[in-house]
Amino acid sequence: MCGIFGYIGERTNAGVIVIDGIKNLEYRGYDSWGIAQKHEGCILVEKNIGKISEVDTLNFQQRCSAAIAHTRWATHGGVTQTNAHPHTTTKRHIAVVHNGIIENYEVLREELKKRGHTFLSETDTEVIPHLIEEEQKITPDFASAVRSACHKLEGRYAILAMDTSSNTLVAARTGSPLIVGVAKNDGYFIASDIPAFLEHTRTVHYLDDGEMLVTDGSSILFTDLKSGEERPKRNIEITWTVEQAQKGNFDHFMLKEIMEQKETIARAVNQNEEQISVIADAIRNAQGTFLAACGTAHKACMAAEYFFSVIAEHHVNVTSAGEFKPYHHFLKPESLLIVVSQSGETADVLEAMYIAKSKGAKVLAIVNSEGSTIHREADYTLLINAGPERAVASTKALTGQMAVLILIAYTLAGKLHEGKMLLLETGSMINDMLNPRYLERIEKLAQKLKEEEDCYIIGKSWNYPMALESAIKIQEVSYIHAEGFAGGELKHGPIALIEEETPCLVLTGNDEVAIDIISNATELKARGALLIGIGPKNNDIFDEWLKVPDAGPAQAIANIIPIQILAYYLAVERGKNPDMPRNLAKSVTVK
Ligand code: G6P
Repeated sequence: MCGIFGYIGERTNAGVIVIDGIKNLEYRGYDSWGIAQKHEGCILVEKNIGKISEVDTLNFQQRCSAAIAHTRWATHGGVTQTNAHPHTTTKRHIAVVHNGIIENYEVLREELKKRGHTFLSETDTEVIPHLIEEEQKITPDFASAVRSACHKLEGRYAILAMDTSSNTLVAARTGSPLIVGVAKNDGYFIASDIPAFLEHTRTVHYLDDGEMLVTDGSSILFTDLKSGEERPKRNIEITWTVEQAQKGNFDHFMLKEIMEQKETIARAVNQNEEQISVIADAIRNAQGTFLAACGTAHKACMAAEYFFSVIAEHHVNVTSAGEFKPYHHFLKPESLLIVVSQSGETADVLEAMYIAKSKGAKVLAIVNSEGSTIHREADYTLLINAGPERAVASTKALTGQMAVLILIAYTLAGKLHEGKMLLLETGSMINDMLNPRYLERIEKLAQKLKEEEDCYIIGKSWNYPMALESAIKIQEVSYIHAEGFAGGELKHGPIALIEEETPCLVLTGNDEVAIDIISNATELKARGALLIGIGPKNNDIFDEWLKVPDAGPAQAIANIIPIQILAYYLAVERGKNPDMPRNLAKSVTVK
């Protein structure tokens, strides 16, 4: 949520570097953008509403060796030019970009107003440069003033600041991510996420919670934000490549990432067998295993409840991470929490993890982003290895998460190799399924459905969470009202919504509930619904059928893929950009 990117170093085109780089963080927010450049001793600020991808980089060619940039997902204050970051002091000698929420900003603003400060925006961020200015009256050194100002801030934040007096960039973090790209003899890149600087360097340092950094472009110092004590860092090499983080020949990241599922299932399954067995033992021995995640990753956890039950006859408790707090009463040091997250930075997931840790429980993290906070702070970790996911709508991360969860369930049942074979076979069937004819077939269906206002999806067992996920996918990119239900729940309310020709997607499988879901679909048909079957078997009641390979207990993985494609084409057919759904951001680092 909100992207931050700054550069300081030898190069004299810092403006161009940060504008190009922040475009790679647009998935974090695209309400407005802004940049502050240090030019001949002054700070030049430019900001506006709209998307950073539409900004011409060539407008930022002034000579400057330090710049900070921001792409905003609005929290405090509407989407206006004044509310866009960077925010500055009145004299414009300090500029700050920020991700997160300053919870005590109203109190701070009132105090600062009394001291003569004037505020222009409605944001919480604007108090930060003014607070630093006030602190500089006591401690003129810029970095020390930033540190003292941070001591007065409450909330979760990442900030990046520059001033006219020192030749430094200063960053601090409590909660929201910041990563430093190190380009030897060339400078430092400070960003909310790695794709911002991937084309310059793959050597990184992570700024941990409660730390700050100061850099003049030739050296960098990490310290504890409170005590000022030095925090040494080692160089970490990232495996992601520039190509992985780019669109290539695809029109949108969403389609690219859907198609990457030809390979990502096999990559998710390629886990260290010893490590996965240790994890299965931890689950077996835990007194209470909990799963918590948000959004699409939460639907993977809901599906896991069925995987663990059907494959391993093992009970787990699943909750949305935002609802995890009341569960702490169940947690003991012998409990295990499994958190699932693509970004490894989602605020509610982090909070669930900290709650579990505070009770002495162990945490297993299943993440995509290597080096993310959740990945670094969990007791056990498994990477899904899907590569960077840039589209806001999660696709390949979900199927990778489910593949890892299925593999764990099989390991728990003492059948690791059987699980591996099933998933590799599923991956190879998905590879065959994702051919141009299949995509065309779904594109045609999207053309038929594009004017619809409502759409319902039903499923049972692991297809029930996939029905919920299908609704998320369709809603978020096409803005068609979509809702998912457990097949058996229809007659307890939702069936009242069905009218003649209402489109209903029916997720099926070759499993113990195969007959039940067909009888639920028949109830819809009797009320005039237009039935679209999705699964391995056709049925006379379906008006349309999207064939999906029979993947046994991995059916959820196979079934969600045609829906991802359908959601994508519905968005395109309705003239929406599927990569940038309105009001959403990919990485939700605020609660
Ligand atoms: C946002 C994204 C979703 C994602 C969810 C959880 O809502 O738009 O695609 O599923 O956050 O994110 P995480 O990174 O924790 O998986």
